[in-house]
Amino acid sequence: MQLTQKESSLVKDLLDQEKVCIQKYEFYAESAKDPELKELFGKLKKDEQEHFNSLSELQKGSLPTVPNPRESMAAGYSPKATYKSGENTNDKCHDEFLCTDSISSEKMVSSAYNSDLFQFAATGIRKLLNHIQTEEQEHAEMIYKYKTANGMA
Ligand SMILES: [Fe+2]
Ligand SMILES: [Fe+2]
Repeated sequence: MQLTQKESSLVKDLLDQEKVCIQKYEFYAESAKDPELKELFGKLKKDEQEHFNSLSELQKGSLPTVPNPRESMAAGYSPKATYKSGENTNDKCHDEFLCTDSISSEKMVSSAYNSDLFQFAATGIRKLLNHIQTEEQEHAEMIYKYKTANGMA
């Protein structure tokens, strides 16, 4: 499959974004105080790595297979609460900041997929980008669930 120059430059930008997501979640997994949140960031990092790999394949001219729609990752996620709702400790504020920042990144990345998708000719590529976008939304939803469970929302 041959990408047009425009398509190829869009894929390159998305690759750059995914790279930042991988680095961010790696850094945030180290930085988070709550082990539950560390684990969540670690999981998200793995997903971002998969996104990066799919886009790399696409950049090289092959269309990666879009996985069958799986059960929503977010639907099955119920984090245990570490912090209480009235609590105002440094650890909680620190972790809350990481969450809020991650949600805004996911929002940004998700909307990039949403608008870029319209620029691609091949149905298969649109499906792939749509699949990745759905996962970005689920990432934000999981972080939101974590915040809610920990009295941060
Ligand atoms: Fe991603
Ligand atoms: Fe994401």
